[in-house]
Amino acid sequence: MSNGLEDIIAAETVLSDVDGLAGRLIIRGEPLAALAGRVGYEDVLSLLWDGFFPDLPHDLRQPLGAARARMFEMLHRELPLVANRSAFDAMRSLMALLPDGTDLDSALLLTAAPGVLLSALLRLRAGNQPLTPDTDLDHATDVLRMMGGAAPRPELARALGSYLVTVADHGLNASTFAARVVASTEAGLTSSVLAALGALKGPLHGGAPGPVLDMLDAVGKPENAEAWISAELARGERLMGFGHRIYRVRDPRADALKAALAQISGAVDTNRMALAAAVETAALKALKQHKPDRPLDTNVEFYTAVLLEAVGFPRDCFTAVFATGRVGGWIAHAREQAATGRLIRPKSRYIGPMPKVAA
Ligand code: ACO
Repeated sequence: MSNGLEDIIAAETVLSDVDGLAGRLIIRGEPLAALAGRVGYEDVLSLLWDGFFPDLPHDLRQPLGAARARMFEMLHRELPLVANRSAFDAMRSLMALLPDGTDLDSALLLTAAPGVLLSALLRLRAGNQPLTPDTDLDHATDVLRMMGGAAPRPELARALGSYLVTVADHGLNASTFAARVVASTEAGLTSSVLAALGALKGPLHGGAPGPVLDMLDAVGKPENAEAWISAELARGERLMGFGHRIYRVRDPRADALKAALAQISGAVDTNRMALAAAVETAALKALKQHKPDRPLDTNVEFYTAVLLEAVGFPRDCFTAVFATGRVGGWIAHAREQAATGRLIRPKSRYIGPMPKVAA
C-alpha cells in the first residue's frame, strides 16, 4: 500500500480530468483555457452541476445573487462572535450553521457563503459595517464590492472571476475526496463541504498561497532569490507554490492565472511581479538540481498569491478565497458520489500487537 493512495482510482467522475504528464485540466469536456478568463463563475457552476439537481435553472447568476442575500440575512448577526478568529476558521464556523440539505437551495447557500462571510469579516476587521449583497451583480463583482465598500474596477472583478473559474474543480484532490467520503454516508452538503474545508486548510493543499507571499517578502529583491532558495532547500524546507502530486510538468492553472495577471498589469505592483518572476526562475532551477529524479514545477498556488494580493485580499484570507471557488466543485462531487449509492469504506492493514495467547 502507499500512505498517500497514489495511483489508486477511488471514484469515477464526469466532472474533471487532470493529466499530470500533459499538464492538462479538462472540466466537463472543456479545457481550462476555454473557460478561465472567458466565462463567469456562474457558468462553471452550471457546467459542474448539470444533471445533479433536477430544478437547475439555465442561468445561475440571479439564483446565486438571491442566495448571497439569504445567506447574509441568516448569518450576519453572528459575525461579531467569530470576528477575532482567523478568516478561514471564522468562515468555517459560520458555515456549520447552515442547513444540511442536498437540494439546490442548500447548494446555492453553501456556494454563496464563503464570499459573503469573508467580505463581511474583512469589513468588520476594518471597523466598518458589512454591506448587504447586490443580487443583480455577478458573484466575483459582488464579493469585491462587499469587501471594498464600492463598485470594484471591472478588470479586478474579471481577474477574481478568472481565479474562481480556474480553481472550481480539480479531480480527486484531498478536499474533494473528503467531500465525497462524507457524501457517501448520505450526510448533507454542508457536512461534505465542512469536511472539504478542513482538508483544504493545510499548507500542502490550499494553505500554500499565503506562505508564497511570505517567501516573496523574505526574498525581498530579485537578486536575492537564488541564495535564499538554496539556503531554504539546504535546510530541508519545501518551497511553497512548487510541486504537485499529479503534475510532472507545469500546472496549467499557473498559466491561466499568469494570463489573468497580465490583464490587470496596471493593478499589479511591477516590483512584485519582477520579484515573483525571479523567484519562480530561481526555484525551478534549484529544484531541478535538488531533486533531479522528481520533476517539480510551478503549481496553482504561486500565481494565486500574486493575483489575490493584486485584487486586494489580505494574505491570511487566501485559503478562504480558494474555498469561494472550489465549493462549487465539492458540491458537484458530493452529488455525484451520493448518486452511486455506495458507502466509501476502504480497509486498513493492522500492524499493531496481537493479544497474548493464554498459556
Ligand atoms: N519544495 C522542495 N521539495 C519538494 C517540494 C517543494 N515544493 N515538493 C516536493 N518536494 C520533494 C519532497 O521533499 C520529496 O523529497 P524526498 O523524496 O527526499 O522526501 C520529493 O520532492 C517528492 O515529494 P512528495 O512529498 O512525495 O510529493 P507529493 O506528491 O506528496 O507532493 C505536494 C505534493 C504536497 C504539493 C508537495 O509538492 C509540496 O509540499 N509542495 C509545497 C506546498 C504547495 O505548494 N502546496 C500546494 C499544492 S497545489 C494544491 O493543492 C492546490
